[in-house]
Amino acid sequence: MAEGVQELLSPENSATLDTESKGRSKEDHAEEEEEQKMWPAVNRYGPSNIRDLKPGRKMKWCTCGLTKKAPWCDGSHKRTGFHSLKWRVPEKPQSVYQICNCCYTKSPPFCDGTHTNLPLILEERQKNCPKKDGHPECEKLCNSCGWVPDF
Ligand code: FES
Repeated sequence: MAEGVQELLSPENSATLDTESKGRSKEDHAEEEEEQKMWPAVNRYGPSNIRDLKPGRKMKWCTCGLTKKAPWCDGSHKRTGFHSLKWRVPEKPQSVYQICNCCYTKSPPFCDGTHTNLPLILEERQKNCPKKDGHPECEKLCNSCGWVPDF
């Protein structure tokens, strides 16, 4: 895990909903977990190169994809089920940080290249979304597939 992230990760930052696990097989549990996982919107397919971050500064990385201040949280996640991810800039300075804007990195808040194959995966997920019929009523985003209504 990236430096500075682990200490600030907390259960409230998890994008997976809790489930009751009694009496189910590992496969059932994994399947349910996958079904209940929340998927963010994509703000942009590619990272921001951020310079001059002050060591030790606490940042909030956007996990919902709706922020207007990408890659940082602007509070747009309210009523979406997502929460920002707190990250402290490492004390050992780095001149440039490649911060993820797609919200799908496996190494938050850093870009890990996941955005490369994301458009096709997202299109497929949205096409097969179990809540697809309810998309017209979505206020901000469908967290079951990352679909966002046009404004
Ligand atoms: S921008 Fe998200 S993984 Fe690259």
